[in-house]
Amino acid sequence: MSQRRILVTAALPYANGHIHIGHLLEYVQTDIWVRFQKLRGHRCIFICADDTHGTPIMMRARQEGRSELDLIAEMHARHAQDFADFQIEFDHYGSTNSPENRVVCSEIWRALRLAHLVVEADIQQLFDPEAGVFLADRFVKGTCPRCGAPDQYGDNCEKCGHTYRPTDLIEPRSTISGAVPEIRRSRQLFIRLEKLRPFLTEWTQSGEHLQREVANYLLGNFLQDELRDWDVSRPAPYFGFEIPDQPGNYWYVWFDAPIGYIGSTRQWCDLHSERLDVWWRNPETEIHHFIGKDITYFHTLFWPAMLRTAGYQLPTRVHIHGFLTVDGRKMSKRDGTFVLARTYLEHLDPSWFRYYLASKLGPRLDDLDLSLDEFATKVNADLVGKIVNLASRTAKFVEGARLSDRYPEDGGLFARGVEAGAEIADAYEQGDYNRAMRTIVALADAANPYVEESRPWSLRNDPAQADRLRDVCSVALNLYRQLVVYLAPVLPRLADATGRLFGSPIVSWGDASKPLLGATVAPFEHLMKRVERKDVDAMIEASRESAPDPVHQDDDGPLVAEPLAATCAIDDFAKVDLRVARVVAAEDVPQAKKLLKLTLSLGGGQRRTVFAGIKAAYTPDQLVGRLVVMVANLAPRTMSFGVSEGMVVATGPGGKDVFLLGVDAGGRPGQRVH
Ligand code: MSP
Ligand code: ZN
Repeated sequence: MSQRRILVTAALPYANGHIHIGHLLEYVQTDIWVRFQKLRGHRCIFICADDTHGTPIMMRARQEGRSELDLIAEMHARHAQDFADFQIEFDHYGSTNSPENRVVCSEIWRALRLAHLVVEADIQQLFDPEAGVFLADRFVKGTCPRCGAPDQYGDNCEKCGHTYRPTDLIEPRSTISGAVPEIRRSRQLFIRLEKLRPFLTEWTQSGEHLQREVANYLLGNFLQDELRDWDVSRPAPYFGFEIPDQPGNYWYVWFDAPIGYIGSTRQWCDLHSERLDVWWRNPETEIHHFIGKDITYFHTLFWPAMLRTAGYQLPTRVHIHGFLTVDGRKMSKRDGTFVLARTYLEHLDPSWFRYYLASKLGPRLDDLDLSLDEFATKVNADLVGKIVNLASRTAKFVEGARLSDRYPEDGGLFARGVEAGAEIADAYEQGDYNRAMRTIVALADAANPYVEESRPWSLRNDPAQADRLRDVCSVALNLYRQLVVYLAPVLPRLADATGRLFGSPIVSWGDASKPLLGATVAPFEHLMKRVERKDVDAMIEASRESAPDPVHQDDDGPLVAEPLAATCAIDDFAKVDLRVARVVAAEDVPQAKKLLKLTLSLGGGQRRTVFAGIKAAYTPDQLVGRLVVMVANLAPRTMSFGVSEGMVVATGPGGKDVFLLGVDAGGRPGQRVH
């Protein structure tokens, strides 16, 4: 087997959101493939990065009152931690907002210019005069021009499916500020993909680089007609890289994002004294991208076009997967199935999720359903019950002792496992992890009767049976270890613990074909727990979009009514501007007994500082991110700690029992309440 040189990437997650279990499908899938290649002895690097540019990041940074750099640095750290805790191990995890990436972007841009693929055109776009930004399709809402459904996004109608331009919407509104957008012309740069259509047709249809269904989709939906020019520039303000030969204009985030694969590799090269050209301009290096089906055309049309024009190596293969659903439905915050990586980790073992995904993943684009019942059954029955149990039931009998020096007669079980190695390896290579897991579980199914029939527990009290006991345990433990070698790409932690058990780490695929002889068995450490359904349920509960505040059981109100204040006319009440606001920061005011200082966002960059007497009821971190109702037009009041610019509305008797009037999922900052 000759050593391959393989560069692997997973899609670069957006820096404007946390990692959730849907993302993890991809990163776990890719990590398994990389670990498999490394275990097989190939030279393989796993490159990824945060995707940091674009309008959403810019708007969020504004809303939170901090710089984009500050925001993306925090998200980078959080993403890296989530991945590490799920045992996803990158060789390098960079950022698209790096000097290295800017250099590669400029170089590819120059090549596109030289090839006369860049053209200019004037287009009309919606502009938010209050926020001062051009509005991408998803930042505009209005009434569908065809069916009249209200509250539809700028690109298509969810009611009737009609697609249109944002400028076609009736009564459009900016979702950022609520302002009525203006139509402005802007001069933008486009890439003329049509010139590359013959190349793209050949590349996508060769049968070598893409799954068949993907190739057909591209042919049917894009490649039979003239390809449209691809709009790759955005006018200021935009968080991204300014285009060197077009000041005031920025590369669209989808231009510099895939280039981030190269930019991040370049950082890795600098850190490891490697040459970039070895990885990106050498036909002997394999390049594998793993992505979700939603970003197919970026990776199979735009990206090959860019690579080809700039003289980079084309991907060997783009592996495209479907979406994660939970109990047959799209992940939803309301149902508690939009589970963040962090929330999962607070309740469940990441190894279980890795194993479950592996047992379901195939080489096709079907969606993958996380069935919560099946999750528990598969882990408990197959992984813990059949595989880990081989060790749990026998290791204790040989703790501190040595395994047999010659491999005992086992009726051909170990040899059968060696033989299955080729089939399992082929399944991993093809991305057919489901087949790999089935083959492994079938081996466990064959091994378990051996343990039952040999009854090691009945041998241990009879000194005359000591050798027999050692032989039986040596067989069971070697069969167990063989399975763990095959599972090591999926369950690196179990592989490590198993290595410690025998004082001999699992380092290569070949470890599955030689039994361990004479090794001293370490004291048994617990290898893996069973899934408890209550923990799964607790995770779902914790993921449900913040439930309304608990209602007091006694609904009758205070026993003694306070006298009512003088009547207030409706006109007076109407002067009070009640708005939904998001708490973006909350801090203690140490000098004041009752006060917390809140920074509230009203959307569109508007903020208010409010001092609220709720210290006894809430800690600052309980408040950040919540929606509250505020009196937005209360005259500012100077206090000894600063100016209070409004008031938050609350109910409750006071002291510890103060309930801020939060708003359900429907509310958004800036919305009027009455
Ligand atoms: N930033 C872009 C990718 C740029 S690559 C040059 C992006 N980011 S993302 O955060 O939205 O998604 C990252 C990856 O996770 C994508 O491949 C996407 O398909 C995948 N998934 C996001 N949600 C998913 C599920 N619910 N299920 C499976 N994969 C999912 O797209
Ligand atoms: Zn419609």
